[in-house]
Amino acid sequence: MPRIAVIPGDGIGVDVTREAVKVMAAIRDRGIELDWDEFDYCADKYLDTGITLPDEEIANFRDNYDAVFVGAVGDPRVPDMAHARDILLGLRFKLDLYVNYRPCHLLDESLCPLRDKGIKEVNFTVFRENTEGLYSHVGGHLKQGTVDEVAIQTSVNTRKGVERICRHAFEFARERGLGKVCMSDKSNAMRFEGDLWQRAFFEVAKEYPDIEASHWFIDALLMQMVKRPEQFEVIVSCNMFGDIITDMGAQLCGGMGLAASGNIHPGRTSLFEPVHGSAPKYAGKDIANPLAAILSVGLMLEHLGYPEWTPRLEDIIRAMVREKKVPRDMGGELGTAAVGDWVVKKLKN
Ligand code: NAD
Ligand code: IPM
Ligand code: MN
Repeated sequence: MPRIAVIPGDGIGVDVTREAVKVMAAIRDRGIELDWDEFDYCADKYLDTGITLPDEEIANFRDNYDAVFVGAVGDPRVPDMAHARDILLGLRFKLDLYVNYRPCHLLDESLCPLRDKGIKEVNFTVFRENTEGLYSHVGGHLKQGTVDEVAIQTSVNTRKGVERICRHAFEFARERGLGKVCMSDKSNAMRFEGDLWQRAFFEVAKEYPDIEASHWFIDALLMQMVKRPEQFEVIVSCNMFGDIITDMGAQLCGGMGLAASGNIHPGRTSLFEPVHGSAPKYAGKDIANPLAAILSVGLMLEHLGYPEWTPRLEDIIRAMVREKKVPRDMGGELGTAAVGDWVVKKLKN
């Protein structure tokens, strides 16, 4: 039976996770054996005890759970993100979750901010490298707080790391019958890592002659995502650029309230979470949109071997839009809990 470790986290993470758990319960009632335990790692715990996320707990998740579900982390009382770094980046790095899977599928034309673009045009998947790059925590300070201060943040790119995320993007394209994979970097300015990404990507591409491999520099890619999103089926990029691409991708599909993600190592315990953060100003107000979290449950079930739930949840969201039963960020009036209840009611039909 799949076991899930649930970490609601901070801010609206708590609000949206409550709804995601309601949906998990409804899906369990439909016959899928699922079990979960909740863990209280968050800013409050860190401020009270100094505990972020112990290594023994990460080992517990790895050994005794099939997936981890996170709401969101981040709290204005912890400006250096100390706890969030250990919880979120800690899990991504220590579980070696090298695939950050972030689908950008527009569910209804009315949700797209682009003129004359609809569900056919905005329909791509982003694979963000998730264990290297500028997030590697390599660097340091010199003379901190003085006029001679120096800060160095090094981007780490390994041949193995770049190759495996590129290969994953092509494998995904092949499995889904897609014809195009686009890599984005900044190899015109950042020659060292750019050179590695260029060679690794185009060499992997040779193993997939049936799939068109293309490239945009990251600045041009973002421009093209707005101008002609229909050219994209699969996008692969490094950790930092992937982060930026996917907030923009989220907005093309109706906003952060709808963007789901998986942090995956195929075959191993993986982490699922909405793309958005803890939006502190909305915390506890029954305003946050839980659909990104609910769609992340769908991606989690896909990873656990139940791919049928994502299309089912997407159908329900399309119906919500048609019936105008949507939360505030999508132009409606439904509160967080009411959105969860609505999805659960539809799942029972
Ligand atoms: P954010 O995603 O929390 O919020 C940005 C804005 O997006 C919000 O003000 C709101 O307008 C909108 N928004 C986001 N999620 C929404 C939802 N579910 N429903 C309705 N509107 C929503 O980003 P931020 O303000 O840059 O970050 C807040 C905190 O969250 C920071 O501490 C940041 O580091 C952290 N963060 C965490 C994660 C994560 O846990 N995965 C992701 C991003 C940011
Ligand atoms: C995300 C977030 C995180 C990231 C932050 C909170 C460290 O923005 O998951 O997209 O940059 O990866
Ligand atoms: Mn982000």
